[in-house]
Amino acid sequence: MRWNTPLSEDHAALLVQRLALPEAGSVLDLGCGWGELMLRCLAEDAGGALTGVGVDISKALLERGRELAAARGLEDRVTFVDEPAQTYTGTADRVLCIGASQAWDGAPAALEGLAGAVRPGGRLLFGDGCWERSPTAAARSIFGDGVPMLPELASHATRAGWRVLHLSTADQREWDDFESTWRAGRELWLAEHGAAPDTAPLRAELEDRLMEYVTVYRGLLGFAYLVLRRA
Ligand SMILES: C[S@@+](CC[C@H](N)C(=O)[O-])C[C@H]1O[C@@H](n2cnc3c(N)ncnc32)[C@H](O)[C@@H]1O
Repeated sequence: MRWNTPLSEDHAALLVQRLALPEAGSVLDLGCGWGELMLRCLAEDAGGALTGVGVDISKALLERGRELAAARGLEDRVTFVDEPAQTYTGTADRVLCIGASQAWDGAPAALEGLAGAVRPGGRLLFGDGCWERSPTAAARSIFGDGVPMLPELASHATRAGWRVLHLSTADQREWDDFESTWRAGRELWLAEHGAAPDTAPLRAELEDRLMEYVTVYRGLLGFAYLVLRRA
């Protein structure tokens, strides 16, 4: 997977453009995974003065981020920190938080908490799940009751004191690609390790997720990207 969110290259480029990265300054990625989008932001800055911090609680993903940074010659400009996002106290000019609102127990509290991370005049790229239409009982049973409709998500942002500079949602192709690449790595592993013991649970998980996607949440679960500034 390029990143762990439904996002095409074109859409990512648009979001980075809407962040209006400063020539010097800092990017903070909370719940960064391997920090691909943050690394793209740093690579945008030809002058090399923009620095980054990625925060996550997965040691393996942080290590993957460090390796990616080193492979691109960005290791001196980026730090990966093993810490819960909700307790991290650093601030930055541009903050990314994509698919990690669960660190604050959902979007409303995340949008409140992230206010303290963005320096005056800065911007936040907030990405989170939302229903495209009223969810079915089956969809609620998978994703719970905390997923907002898109208008609710936008309203959580404005109520938390943000101005919405940009809003876009993942389209069907981005979702299909996200779900397919999530499965593809695991399918390839199975293809190469067919004789490994105890592969039955992984096979079953892959089949379940495929069927849940096509029968329950394809076209129903959305994902929104909001570029925000403080009101
Ligand atoms: C859906 S992934 C998104 C990763 C990344 N933002 C991206 O777009 O590729 C969610 C990430 O949040 C991280 N995460 C979950 N709870 C966290 C917490 N309390 N603090 C920091 N990271 C957390 C997970 O380890 C995972 O990497």
